[in-house]
Amino acid sequence: MSEPEQLNLFQPSGLNPITPSDSTAQLIPRDANIPIPEGTYQTLEQLAHHCHQCQRCILGSSRIQAVISRGNPQASIMIIGEAPGQTEDETGLPFVGKSGQLLDQILASVELNPETDIYICNVCKCRPPNNRPPTPAEIAACQPYLLEQIRLVNPKIILLTGATAVKGLLGDKRGITKIRGQWMEWQGRLCMPIFHPSYLLRNPARTEGSPKWLMWQDMKAVRAKLDQLQGN
Ligand code: URA
Repeated sequence: MSEPEQLNLFQPSGLNPITPSDSTAQLIPRDANIPIPEGTYQTLEQLAHHCHQCQRCILGSSRIQAVISRGNPQASIMIIGEAPGQTEDETGLPFVGKSGQLLDQILASVELNPETDIYICNVCKCRPPNNRPPTPAEIAACQPYLLEQIRLVNPKIILLTGATAVKGLLGDKRGITKIRGQWMEWQGRLCMPIFHPSYLLRNPARTEGSPKWLMWQDMKAVRAKLDQLQGN
């Protein structure tokens, strides 16, 4: 394909839309400031390859590496966090620092295995400097990747950890304490906002009504919903 033809792919009018059958993922300019159309990627590997080259926002210039996912791409449950921290930036895997270790323990408490039962990713694939929250522009730049991950993994249940994940996917700006534990529907999928594990690390009490206790109630509800969906 010639260069002008490639550039035509990015006409806002939708000229030459990319179809799922095109293998054009690598043709999208790294600094494309326009939406990446749904159906751009045929595989998660293509998507990851593109994320590793991505410069759609300034986080591309300070990251060690893009952090795409861990767990099972065929899992029924997808967990979406905020953005990688230092350990994640160093290892290339989401939720492997202190928050991630707690998340794995929480999953284990309801007999969910992070390797086989869950696909874990983030709203933003690159670490914001000093672990600041990602900006709305950074979230928007990364959103097409998240939407493609959801389409390709096709989870039955999406868990959104913390307010940034809720805002990033649902656009819902309500505080997490208000909406955690509530089932919501997003594009025909079941979603539940839950506390971010880093919030639980800062609030270690386990008494009834505490954040940890509430998280456990939420995870029991998730386990029950999964069992119901799987006909167990
Ligand atoms: N916090 C997140 O939201 N995501 C990670 O991957 C790690 C910590």
